Amino acid sequence: MTSVLLNLFHPSLATSRANRALVDAVRTLPNVTIRDHYALYPDGVIDVPAEQALLESHDVHIMQFPFYWFSSPALFKAWQDQILQWGWAFGDRQALKGKSWRIVTTLGGTQGDYAPHGLAGHSVDEILLPVRLTASYCAIEWLEPVCVFGVGADGPGAITDEQLDEHAQAYRAALSS
Ligand SMILES: Cc1cc2nc3c(=O)[nH]c(=O)nc-3n(C[C@H](O)[C@H](O)[C@H](O)COP(=O)(O)O)c2cc1C
Repeated sequence: MTSVLLNLFHPSLATSRANRALVDAVRTLPNVTIRDHYALYPDGVIDVPAEQALLESHDVHIMQFPFYWFSSPALFKAWQDQILQWGWAFGDRQALKGKSWRIVTTLGGTQGDYAPHGLAGHSVDEILLPVRLTASYCAIEWLEPVCVFGVGADGPGAITDEQLDEHAQAYRAALSS
């Protein structure tokens, strides 16, 4: 079984609908370690040696977050800035070489919003380019992102509780293999 480190960046899991559903579906999997970074590090100061050790001891790293302003909540950027140090992630050493990253993100927008002529006009893949380049710079394999669209809106394209549960069960199935 692949060891999975699920790095969650949600400012308030208690009030979350989408991310909580996804995390709850995988919480009991024995191969999955969950790090709720906003709960662990409310002041934004990350325990770098502890997180680096966890990254080294797991094969697949998931970065899960709600899409905020065509990006992530700020702590994911702080996490990259603090964790991916010269001499560890790049430069003299490439401690994460051969590991893989998968972005799992929930979006208020619909899939159509992220089509070429949609509201955003760019795909999520395009928007995630800085994270992809960061992974590449550290010799980390990039796995196809998982996007759960329409989690906020009530209008057309909004996800139902049943559809969200289907995503959550698919997430569990994917992480258990
Ligand atoms: C500060 C903020 C910025 C957001 N920016 C975007 C955005 O750029 N694109 C988008 O599709 N949704 C955006 N949303 C909607 C969130 O992605 C959505 O509320 C979230 O995925 C819901 O997940 P949760 O139920 O786990 O909180 C934004 C929400 C907030 C609060």
